[in-house]
Amino acid sequence: MKLNIFANPNLLHEAAAQTIVRLLRQKPDAVLGLATGGTPVGIYEALTAAVRRREVSFARAASFNLDEYVGLPPDHPASYRFYMDQHLFRHIDIPPERTHIPDGCAADLERECERYDRLLQAAGRIDLMLLGLGHNGHIGFNEPGRALHSKTHVAVLHPQTREANARFFCTPEEVPTKAITMGLGSIFSARTILLVVKGNDKADIVHRALTGPITTECPASLLQLHPRLVVMLDEGAAARF
Ligand code: GLP
Repeated sequence: MKLNIFANPNLLHEAAAQTIVRLLRQKPDAVLGLATGGTPVGIYEALTAAVRRREVSFARAASFNLDEYVGLPPDHPASYRFYMDQHLFRHIDIPPERTHIPDGCAADLERECERYDRLLQAAGRIDLMLLGLGHNGHIGFNEPGRALHSKTHVAVLHPQTREANARFFCTPEEVPTKAITMGLGSIFSARTILLVVKGNDKADIVHRALTGPITTECPASLLQLHPRLVVMLDEGAAARF
C-alpha cells in the first residue's frame, strides 16, 4: 500500500487527477472505475481542467461507475448518472456510449446486475478503480455484514448510509432504500485501486480499514489485500496515522 497525505484537499484532488491523467497518457484506452459522493467532486473538476488544457483526452477511454440508486431515473438530480454527467462526463471528451452506470430503474434488477457484469467482463480488467469510503467502511454500496458479494448485486442501504447521503436529497425519506452496486470481486480485480478519503469524520474508519482486522464488517478492510492500493488522504482523514 502506498499512503499519501496531503496538506489540503486541493493538493489531494490534483494528485488524484494526475494519477488518472498519467494512466490515460500511457494507455489512452484505459478502463476506469469511477465513484460518486462528495469526495471525488474536486478530482473531477481537476480532470475537467486537465482536459481543457489539452493535457489529456478521454476519447478512447471507457468508464464503469460503482453504483446507482434503485428507483432513480437518470434525470433525477440525486441519481449517480445525473451526478456523473454534471460533474464530469459533459465536460470531457469521453464518448457517452462508453460511460457505464447500472440502471437503477430496470424492470428486472437481477438481470440488470447480470448485464452490468457481462459489460465489465467484456471490457477486460479495470485499469484504475477510484474509491471513496463510507462512514461505516462501505465501498461502492457494499455494506458491512456477515458476508460480502463478489458480483454486481442489489444492496439494501444501511440506515447510516441513507443518513449520510440525505444531504443530496430534499428530505431524508427520499433517499432510496436500495442500490445496485459492483461487488467486491469486480472492485478487487482492478489493476490499481485509488482510495481517496477526506475529512476528520472519516479518520477513525479509514484507520480501522487500513490497519485493523480484515473483516466483512468493514468492507474496505479487504483493500489491505490488494497488491496495488494507493491511498490519498487529507490531513483530517489522516489524523490517526
Ligand atoms: C456513497 C457512495 C460511495 C462513496 C461514499 C462516500 O454511499 N456509494 O461510493 O464512496 O458514499 O461518500 P462521500 O464522499 O460523500 O463521503
